[in-house]
Amino acid sequence: MPGSKVVGVVASSAGGVEELRTGLVEPLLEAGHRVAVTLTPTAARWLDHLGETTKLAEVTGLPVRSEARLLGSSRPHPQVDVYAVAPATANLVAKLALGIADNQALTVLCEGVAGTPMVVFPRVNAAHARHPAWASHLATLRSVGVELVYGEDVWPLSEPRSSGPSRPLPWTEIQRRVEHLLG
Ligand SMILES: Cc1cc2nc3c(=O)[nH]c(=O)nc-3n(C[C@H](O)[C@H](O)[C@H](O)COP(=O)(O)O)c2cc1C
Repeated sequence: MPGSKVVGVVASSAGGVEELRTGLVEPLLEAGHRVAVTLTPTAARWLDHLGETTKLAEVTGLPVRSEARLLGSSRPHPQVDVYAVAPATANLVAKLALGIADNQALTVLCEGVAGTPMVVFPRVNAAHARHPAWASHLATLRSVGVELVYGEDVWPLSEPRSSGPSRPLPWTEIQRRVEHLLG
């Protein structure tokens, strides 16, 4: 669609990633945006197994990326206007804050973090948040303007393996923040 904005959706291997298409990608497309999806290697394995990577490529009209392109080949995704990183594992948040670009998802995010608007939803539990480096990772990301969908109001932290009904991810709030950054 000419003139439409490009949302780079990046997802990692956290619970709820199986809802990525219906929860975030299709609503963004319905709002008139182009969507380019990149997955961490484990998220790609999970979504491949569910047949979701094929569906994501079909609905977006772009390849779903999880590997580096070959030397000399052209970039398969257009230039991104805003990134929506959801769900973000504790692992992805930590590596992004430290600048570790050891897969395609982190490569684009580490390049974009201080220059392209970014919304990140850390899909973490109370144990992840007790890690001694966690607060500094969040502070690092906030210091360059990353919008964190984080806190008691959007994602109260539960203890790992605590029983209880599974909660939907805050897809509507993530999209609202993306729209806000797009202006
Ligand atoms: C079924 C399952 C669910 C998981 N859910 C989460 C989660 O919600 N949040 C999280 O931070 N890690 C979660 N993990 C752990 C991550 O998948 C693991 O740390 C992985 O190495 C992260 O890799 P990635 O960040 O490259 O996707 C889960 C693992 C499994 C097997």
